Amino acid sequence: MAKKIFLSRIIPDVGIELLNNSEFEVDILHSKEPLSPEALRSRVKDIHALICLLDDKIDQALIDNAPNLEIISNMAVGYNNIDTAYAKSKNIKVCNTPGILSQSTAELAWALLFAIARRIPESDTFTREGKFTGWMPMLMLGGDIKGQTLGVIGTGRIGTAFALMSKGFNMRVLYSGKPNPILDKELKAENVDQDTLIRESDFISLHVPLRPENHHLISKREFEMMKPTAYLINTARGPIVDEKELVRVLKEKRIAGAAMDVYENEPALTPGLTDLDNVVLTPHTGSATVPVRNTLAIMAVENCLRILRGEPGENRVV
Ligand code: GLV
Repeated sequence: MAKKIFLSRIIPDVGIELLNNSEFEVDILHSKEPLSPEALRSRVKDIHALICLLDDKIDQALIDNAPNLEIISNMAVGYNNIDTAYAKSKNIKVCNTPGILSQSTAELAWALLFAIARRIPESDTFTREGKFTGWMPMLMLGGDIKGQTLGVIGTGRIGTAFALMSKGFNMRVLYSGKPNPILDKELKAENVDQDTLIRESDFISLHVPLRPENHHLISKREFEMMKPTAYLINTARGPIVDEKELVRVLKEKRIAGAAMDVYENEPALTPGLTDLDNVVLTPHTGSATVPVRNTLAIMAVENCLRILRGEPGENRVV
């Protein structure tokens, strides 16, 4: 009997075609919304492979409900939604989709940086509402970008791509964590401790994975250290920022602004966040370009098929 693959959501057609043309039994949930944890658990009882999305919670309870499970293939680079240690203990292989989305996520971080510094969403609303009655010397004043200090927390693939894009803006680039020879060579970037980065940066962009040590990496203490003219950008994972504190400092105008693509309790937003003008909000769309999402879908399906077929080349996390 053919092994069974369950795909927990609609993904781009190219991925679905690849799956449907495989020799395996395929069960696709034709839904744009995630299943509840209980509903997801009830769908995995007899499956051998699960292709899932970053908001599907793959915990012990789910894994225990899937005794035949051999593979969990996440269509995302981040895999904090999966209990990888437990999967490993059950000999289940876990795959992700790194690399292809680095550039698009870095580009979104820059889009957010421009959007908040130059007040683009606010200006757009103002103009659409017919409030533009003539050029005004003090209208929509924002922050400079060229020559400013850019702080990059996390210089893996995405953080490095993001930092390299600062080249045209002649910025002083600070980064924390492990030495990054590419940034040192290309940008003469300075590897500093995190507190120095937070104190000295005009823009702080987050690119670390969500691990226990990164939970609330930016909280009350860090906001207090930031320049009052500084901006925070988060395209990594929501819980890296203490969102209640963020709302408080934005309300009090303790920092100049923030631009967020990810949220602490996604998709819920901390009350008060949407009332603020000094924040730009996007719906977790770092990798959301047509070519990138198509490639991610293919990669997530191929990771799964490769393992089931015993072929090499999959992207394994554990
Ligand atoms: C997106 O957030 C991803 O992890 O791929």
